[in-house]
Amino acid sequence: MNTFNNKYGPWALITGASSGIGAEFARQLAAKGLNLVLVARREERLRALARELEAAHRIAVTIIPVDLTTTDFLTVIQQATDGLEISLLVNNAGVMPTGRFLDHDLEQELRQLNLNNRAPLILAHHFGGPMAERGRGGLLFLASMVAFQGTPSASHYAATKAFGLVLAEGLHVELKEAGVDVLALAPGFTATDLSGELDFSGTPIKPMLVEPVVQAALRGLGRKAVVVPGWQNRLLVWMGKHLLPRSANTAIFGKIYETLTREAHHA
Ligand SMILES: NC(=O)c1ccc[n+]([C@@H]2O[C@H](COP(=O)([O-])OP(=O)(O)OC[C@H]3O[C@@H](n4cnc5c(N)ncnc54)[C@H](OP(=O)(O)O)[C@@H]3O)[C@@H](O)[C@H]2O)c1
Repeated sequence: MNTFNNKYGPWALITGASSGIGAEFARQLAAKGLNLVLVARREERLRALARELEAAHRIAVTIIPVDLTTTDFLTVIQQATDGLEISLLVNNAGVMPTGRFLDHDLEQELRQLNLNNRAPLILAHHFGGPMAERGRGGLLFLASMVAFQGTPSASHYAATKAFGLVLAEGLHVELKEAGVDVLALAPGFTATDLSGELDFSGTPIKPMLVEPVVQAALRGLGRKAVVVPGWQNRLLVWMGKHLLPRSANTAIFGKIYETLTREAHHA
């Protein structure tokens, strides 16, 4: 076994593995030889990905079709993972309702809160304890570039991503002694179904591909607390931290989201 697998194997659990960044995590971790637990609602997609990865690599894949917004989702995951040594948790599943906060119904906002924040918190607590006891493992949280400032037209989404970023920054230090590596991955726009709801035409923004985003995360795990993939994105974050007041960042990101969602809603 190589160093990566010694640290994060033999099993990794990925939420939101049925598409986008989560499916790419599954592909890259499978290529490293980790066994996988794939979690999302769309069972057929999980099954197809499991078949593909089992055939391509000498690994075992378990699927758990479950809605992570439900109150008792952990019971389902606990039953299916009993006896598996999960040493890497990728808290990736997320939704991004855009538009004006007061135009959304509260139930939708609460589902977002449950998926983007409650579920990762519960899973990190559940799997983080045994990792700390074993003295090795990794916890990964999907943040976003919007986590660094308030973002009008995606206000609650940005707040949920800030939660993941700040939680990961704290745990990165807190769990270091226990041998558990914690990372927040903060991508900019990435080409997936989620960003597919936005209209980039007429803007200079070109979403990154999922491959380099996931590669950057796996390179940073164990070395950094936060990874922002892509040099243009890192430059934007650097400028936001060192050159601009926070209110200017909020205005800029708000303008970007307003444009992308307005054009998408009119499409
Ligand atoms: N794409 C971007 O531009 C971007 C940028 C920054 C951060 N991110 C973050 O990256 C993460 C992955 O997003 P993505 O871009 O890869 O989007 P995506 O392709 O839409 O993937 C979202 C995943 O979450 C799962 N999911 C959604 N609701 C769920 C629920 N109630 N229970 C269980 N699973 C659920 C989906 O599976 P099912 O529908 O099958 O349940 C899917 O696998 C998110 O946390 C997002 O905030 C994305």
